[in-house]
Amino acid sequence: MNFKIVTALPQLLEGPLNHSIMQRGQDKGLLQIELVNLREYGLGPHKQIDDYQFGGGAGMVMMCEPLASCIEDLCSKAEFDEIIYLTPDGEKFNQKLANQLSLKKNIMLICGHYKGIDERIREKYVSKEISIGDYVLSGGELAAAIVVDSVGRLLPGVLNNETSALLDSFQDGLLAPPVYTRPRNFKDMEVPEVLLSGNDAAIENWRYEMSLERTKKRRPDILEDND
Ligand code: ADE
Repeated sequence: MNFKIVTALPQLLEGPLNHSIMQRGQDKGLLQIELVNLREYGLGPHKQIDDYQFGGGAGMVMMCEPLASCIEDLCSKAEFDEIIYLTPDGEKFNQKLANQLSLKKNIMLICGHYKGIDERIREKYVSKEISIGDYVLSGGELAAAIVVDSVGRLLPGVLNNETSALLDSFQDGLLAPPVYTRPRNFKDMEVPEVLLSGNDAAIENWRYEMSLERTKKRRPDILEDND
C-alpha cells in the first residue's frame, strides 16, 4: 500500500512514521510512505504557498496553485483510490474507516495549515475529508500520522502476529480486555487466576466478559452503535 503525504512541514512526519511498526512495514515492502514537500510547488522566488483570505480576517489560507500543481503532478504518476484532506470538519476517523482504507492501494493525504486550504481545492480534487477528533491541531500532519499508523498496522504481515490486530480495541466493536505480564504478584496485586489456568476456552470467555464490562462502563456509545 502506498501513501503520499502532501505537507509544508515534512520534518513533522519523519519521526512518527520511520520507527517501530511503520518502519517494519516499509522494510518488508508492504507499506510505502512518501512525504511530498508542498514548498517545492510554491510560487515565485519565495516559494509562496499561503496568502491572506478574501473577505478579511486573521489567518492565512493555503493557495490553490501550489496544491493543484502538486496534486496533478502526483496524479500524473499514479492513480489514487482516495485523495484525503485532514480537517477538523471532516468525517470522524474510527476503526471502521481505518479498516476500509486498509483495502485501498494508493492514498494521497493532504495536510492543511493556518486557516486551511482554499475551498476550491477541496471541491475539485479531494475525495474524502477526515477529522481525527473534535479538537483543532496546528496542522494536518499529526492527523495524517495517526491515519497512516492505524491503517498501516492492519496490512497483513506488518504486525508480527497478524491476529493481534484482530484483538485490538474497537476491532470487534468492543474495547480490549486488560492484559498482564510478569510478575504474578506486584505490590500485593495478583494476576487474575483464570489467566494462569491454561484453559483456553475459559481465558477466551473471561476476556470477552472483561471487554464487554469495560465497554459498558467506559464507552456505552460503542455498544449502541453496534445495535
Ligand atoms: N487539522 C487540524 N485539526 C484536525 C483534526 N482534528 N483532524 C484532522 N485534521 C486536522
